[in-house]
Amino acid sequence: MRSTRSDLVHEGNFVWSHRPLIESGILASAADSLDSMPTLGVDLVEEILELKRDRNALILAHNYQVKEIQDVADYVGDSLGLSYQAAQTDADVIAFCGVHFMAETAKILNPTKTVVLPDLDAGCSLSESCPPDKLAAYLQQHADKNYYVIAYINCSAGVKALSDVICTSGNAMKIVNAAPQDRNILFVPDENLGSWVIEQTGRNMTLWRGNCYVHVEFTREAIERIKAEYPDAPVVAHPECTYAVRILADEVCSTEKMISYCRAHPSPAFVIVTESGMLHRLRREMPNKIFIPGPTDHCACADCRFMKMNTLEKLHAALLNLQPEIILPEPIRARAELPIRRMLELSA
Ligand code: 13P
Ligand code: SF4
Repeated sequence: MRSTRSDLVHEGNFVWSHRPLIESGILASAADSLDSMPTLGVDLVEEILELKRDRNALILAHNYQVKEIQDVADYVGDSLGLSYQAAQTDADVIAFCGVHFMAETAKILNPTKTVVLPDLDAGCSLSESCPPDKLAAYLQQHADKNYYVIAYINCSAGVKALSDVICTSGNAMKIVNAAPQDRNILFVPDENLGSWVIEQTGRNMTLWRGNCYVHVEFTREAIERIKAEYPDAPVVAHPECTYAVRILADEVCSTEKMISYCRAHPSPAFVIVTESGMLHRLRREMPNKIFIPGPTDHCACADCRFMKMNTLEKLHAALLNLQPEIILPEPIRARAELPIRRMLELSA
């Protein structure tokens, strides 16, 4: 292992030893991702960049993508930032490196552009927890409530088409605060993000019972243990985590806000409680800080299997063949565009 860093970091009166981190392998992975440029795949990267120019394509990547994809992307960010990028681009092709609902959102905003997703099977457990037909049946069954439906962006186009407004973890409070005061709110599909927003805004909402299979793996016990090990490192958690984990966190925020929070905070080390891909983005942008993966009860291995389906090879093939392409029935696309546009206006 090569490390360019000294064994001790002093910042103010905070003294941080790297030794336990090296022993636990945490710093090894940080150093590896920073110091070792991939030698394999260099031609692939060049070919991807050439294809990108030929196709007039934009490569968008979510913060959870593998590091090789993050490094070749035009923009890496959270769902909100990616939606704005998709809404603003004049590229002919969008190669969306994320999961299906994200690429679908880009297509909804760009009906005339070609939107490709390197692996069409890159789904999302949260999105799957709320099928459009179940939501439609629920709304019909509870028609007396006249629900104002706020859908977290982690849902299918069919669910978006049944919604009044979309939100992301980056703007959920703003969107909920802007909801009509005289309406009952149904928040779908994430019960954890929904309950966090209720705590923050005081607004009562009915919550759909969905969750993210990655974020619910973080437990109170595991986070308490890592806090005891690194008591000076602020804990930064995604709002898809459960209440028991969120209350242990110093900051609960979207993946993009994690970047600005850690940059502005004087601490040299942080515990990051979200999907593992986030660590690459943080380490790339803040090479002098230390990012400790929040552990689950089994390991520190919070990979989203869907996010990790995209590879550099599949991205290359997608740009070459312009496949797999996102195709949507026009009536659903057009209806789903309304709540997304409403979100973009409200959170501008
Ligand atoms: P962000 O919008 O915060 O990037 O989160 C997306 C996501 O899928 C979290 O699991
Ligand atoms: Fe969906 Fe969870 Fe993966 Fe995010 S991390 S894409 S919410 S399964």
